[in-house]
Amino acid sequence: MKEDNAQPLSEEVLKTDAGQAPAKKPKFVKTEKTPVEPFDPEALIEVQHLTKSFGELTVLNDISEKIRQGEKVAVIGPSGSGKSTFLRCLNMLEDPTDGYVFFEGNNLCDLHVDINVQRRRMGMVFQQFNLFNNMNVLKNITLAPVHIGVGELRKAKRKNFFTKIGNVFRGKDKKKPLVPVETSAKQIKAEANENAMRLLARIGLADKAKVYPSTLSGGQRQRIAIVRALAMNPKVMLFDEPTSALDPEMVGEVLELIKELADEGMTMVIVTHEMGFAREVATRVMFMDGGKIVEQGPPSEIFGAPKNDRLKDFLAKVL
Ligand SMILES: Nc1ncnc2c1ncn2[C@@H]1O[C@H](COP(=O)(O)OP(=O)(O)O)[C@@H](O)[C@H]1O
Ligand SMILES: [Mg+2]
Repeated sequence: MKEDNAQPLSEEVLKTDAGQAPAKKPKFVKTEKTPVEPFDPEALIEVQHLTKSFGELTVLNDISEKIRQGEKVAVIGPSGSGKSTFLRCLNMLEDPTDGYVFFEGNNLCDLHVDINVQRRRMGMVFQQFNLFNNMNVLKNITLAPVHIGVGELRKAKRKNFFTKIGNVFRGKDKKKPLVPVETSAKQIKAEANENAMRLLARIGLADKAKVYPSTLSGGQRQRIAIVRALAMNPKVMLFDEPTSALDPEMVGEVLELIKELADEGMTMVIVTHEMGFAREVATRVMFMDGGKIVEQGPPSEIFGAPKNDRLKDFLAKVL
């Protein structure tokens, strides 16, 4: 469990002075946040002074970084260096302690920005294939698109309902226009099904649409988790060690699919231990250590001519 790693304040820290009673740990510490800087409109994702702490432990330490459309960024580094936390901060699965994340120019740390709307455009695939085991494959893929499509339809209908009522009382030239509603829940479901079947056919699993995930191999499940993310039409895909939980013979099929997406131009950030894959597919490799991006560059430089000693050390262990 992650919680086990949170370091409690030690008596030493709590004691203000020798002999005095320990000071109470403050419930809420107000910290001044770093001011927002103008974002780069060219960047798909821009991270400014990103810092994340769990209690006393600083896991991400003032990271500023930009990811442009079409880039394939591989994040490498030793265990515990903050790779997963970095990825999770990009789509706000973790709240940054300080700093900001911009996605398509929207500051995700701004409470006025609807994080759910933004997050839909960032597909996330974890180490463990997070499919719902109580739903068949098709339902797994269509669940989110249908939920969102139908939700938006209802919202539009509700809005029109109140506009119509209001229009009764408005003068002839003052009537407000209605939101065009050109679809139905049935149509949304049919389209989502069609799209899901197309995606399943693409990965050669169309015949598995009606089966439950537990009957599939790890490689098949992870490929379905990937197309499930694709069904939301993401602008970027975030992968957190997508092959680490797989039996070795299934790693290839998953990497192959990710490589295909990369070749098609999908922007991606991928935390991986597959150095060969990073070398082949990434346009940029970031090496993280101790909550910082210690070195980064094209794969040829990172793997061929590493400069930082910790990177050299790391590569010596993993290559
Ligand atoms: N929810 C959490 N609570 C406390 N500590 C955490 C939590 N998540 C991660 N950590 C700690 O943050 C550090 C970085 O973790 P992580 O981002 O998962 O590293 P990596 O993915 O590079 O292995 C580790 O020391 C880990 O124990
Ligand atoms: Mg991790």
